[in-house]
Amino acid sequence: MNLSRFSLAGRVALVTGGSRGIGRAIALAFADAGADVAISGRKLPDLESVADEIGKKGVKSMAVASHIARGEESKALVAKVKGEWGKIDILVNNAGTSPYYGPLLEAEEWAWDATMNVNLKGPFLLSQVVAGIMKEQGGGSIINMASIMGMVPSEIGFYSVTKAGLIMLTKVLAKEWGQYKIRVNAIAPGVVKTRLSEALWKDPVKGEEAAKSKALGYIGVPEDIAGAALFLASDASSYVTGEVIVVDGGELVGPAPDYGA
Ligand SMILES: NC(=O)c1ccc[n+]([C@@H]2O[C@H](COP(=O)([O-])OP(=O)(O)OC[C@H]3O[C@@H](n4cnc5c(N)ncnc54)[C@H](OP(=O)(O)O)[C@@H]3O)[C@@H](O)[C@H]2O)c1
Repeated sequence: MNLSRFSLAGRVALVTGGSRGIGRAIALAFADAGADVAISGRKLPDLESVADEIGKKGVKSMAVASHIARGEESKALVAKVKGEWGKIDILVNNAGTSPYYGPLLEAEEWAWDATMNVNLKGPFLLSQVVAGIMKEQGGGSIINMASIMGMVPSEIGFYSVTKAGLIMLTKVLAKEWGQYKIRVNAIAPGVVKTRLSEALWKDPVKGEEAAKSKALGYIGVPEDIAGAALFLASDASSYVTGEVIVVDGGELVGPAPDYGA
């Protein structure tokens, strides 16, 4: 196989939530593969320090403050990237949130709205604007950061509902936009050591349980997710669309059976 199919040289990528965690790891991997990378999030100083790291890899970088749930801010974000670099080849809808932990019987309306708006409405609105550009360009790749919690119900219920919705959004958009050579795929990570999940992995008891629940026996790090993103962003996956790649260290398959000593 010609390994240049994994190269992103000459491509322009936009990664939301690129200031830390999984988004940062993906942005840096894309830069290593040769792409110019724009990152967005709410806090500009955090974005700027990652943009510096990207720039040190010899590609162009851009940091743009933008709230994913606000449609007008997403339009401005896209206009800035397209205005400065002329195109967008890859979009990673990575920014996500889980503001409420507790029984749904007691959950309040704000928690539903906040989770839905950031995890589902925002990715749709941004994809819609970017797809308009990709259609004109003759194609592109959109990657949605879902979760295995969107495949099996979890104790963070609203989050699970949004990620299940994001998986269906992925398939619906892939079906509609394939005719424009826009591929739309999702990644479904298991637990990854980031700020979002620190209540789990920083707790010694819960953290050990979480590690033991996986076939590979440890909790993933952001770099564990970047390879799947590079595959889906690049021409190596040119015939893949509407797909969900699970990257969970074997959480869904579970640990080895215990046959006793
Ligand atoms: N960590 C896990 O265990 C895990 C597992 C499965 C899936 N995921 C998914 O992976 C994605 C990345 O999560 P992570 O674990 O890397 O989380 P993280 O470390 O908390 O990073 C979240 C990123 O999203 C940005 N963000 C949050 N709210 C935003 C908003 N309203 N508008 C724009 N940007 C926003 C944050 O920057 P600002 O705060 O500056 O806005 C930050 O860059 C999420 O979609 C998450 O659901 C994570």
